[in-house]
Amino acid sequence: MHDISQYQDFFISYLKDQTISKDPKNLYEPIEYILKLGGKRMRPVLTLMTSEVFDTNFKLALPAAMAVEVFHNFSLVHDDIMDDAPLRRGKVTVHEKWNINTGILSGDAMLILAYQYFEQYEPVVFRDLAKLFSKTALEVCEGQQWDVDFEERKDVTVLEYLKMIEYKTAVLVAAAMKMGAIVAKTTEKEADLIYDFGLNLGLAFQLQDDYLDAFGDPETFGKQVGGDIMINKKTYLYLKALEFSTPEKIVLLEGLFSLQLPDNTEKIETVKAIFNESGASKATQEAIEMYTFRAFETLDKMEINAEKKNILRTFGENLMGRKV
Ligand code: IPE
Ligand code: IPE
Ligand code: MG
Ligand code: MG
Ligand code: MG
Repeated sequence: MHDISQYQDFFISYLKDQTISKDPKNLYEPIEYILKLGGKRMRPVLTLMTSEVFDTNFKLALPAAMAVEVFHNFSLVHDDIMDDAPLRRGKVTVHEKWNINTGILSGDAMLILAYQYFEQYEPVVFRDLAKLFSKTALEVCEGQQWDVDFEERKDVTVLEYLKMIEYKTAVLVAAAMKMGAIVAKTTEKEADLIYDFGLNLGLAFQLQDDYLDAFGDPETFGKQVGGDIMINKKTYLYLKALEFSTPEKIVLLEGLFSLQLPDNTEKIETVKAIFNESGASKATQEAIEMYTFRAFETLDKMEINAEKKNILRTFGENLMGRKV
């Protein structure tokens, strides 16, 4: 096994070796732009790491890791159009740098490109990877639709929110890990357990993403801070604030979240203050910990050695402390 930063380096050097740009430039340049913009590379690292957890050299998992990262980046290009986001990884988003149509088509091409990486595997592994990937990709679309539908709804429940983030985010983290397990041809039981580990980690990850969207440092976060508040996203912070607030604050919050006020810093500051004073921020931090610990419980059921469990646990702990 290697450490997390080594898996990151292995993946980045593999990515650098890929030739993506060709004609037509306006299709491929945005793909290269977004893929090489950086990011944490969390999902491909998890794929590589998982293959080694199940005693298979990470090199075998590189194409699968690439497929997951290309898919993730595709989802970001389209997500930034849907969320009207100006910034991604500290740089201007694809649809702002080019235009919306370019974002749509380059995104579509990335989804296909992602599948092509599976062609490097033998038939049985190819089938299992493609099957998992198709299921996951459809779930991501379902989660994204819920996310957008919830912007307009006033009666979203915490349970609905949790289902939404499971679909839009957690299933891909889980699948990234299960793909490593598929490449390693481990038992179905272990593959399902690692999926479950990834799913809980993914839930914690999206809760943290929502938290950072409101409270992240604009200097380092890389995305527009307050973007979720601007477009009335029904996040855990928002739902918990409604649950814990006084009737007057509820009226204020619901009122603010029924308006379209882009770039209104006063709305953002008022909402953030309510998130803090209501205890919603604290509840979100607690939920992040709870799902991370739930992931760790899955590790206890697995038949891998203590060193490997430790590496996976460290990964989860680092994620909890992230600022980007
Ligand atoms: C952003 O994912 C989208 C979410 C699911 C929250 P990441 O936070 O992993 O984005 P990068 O790849 O590191 O930029
Ligand atoms: C991202 O959710 C989920 C997917 C891209 C599928 P967000 O909309 O919260 O992600 P960011 O915050 O823009 O990265
Ligand atoms: Mg977004
Ligand atoms: Mg979104
Ligand atoms: Mg977000």
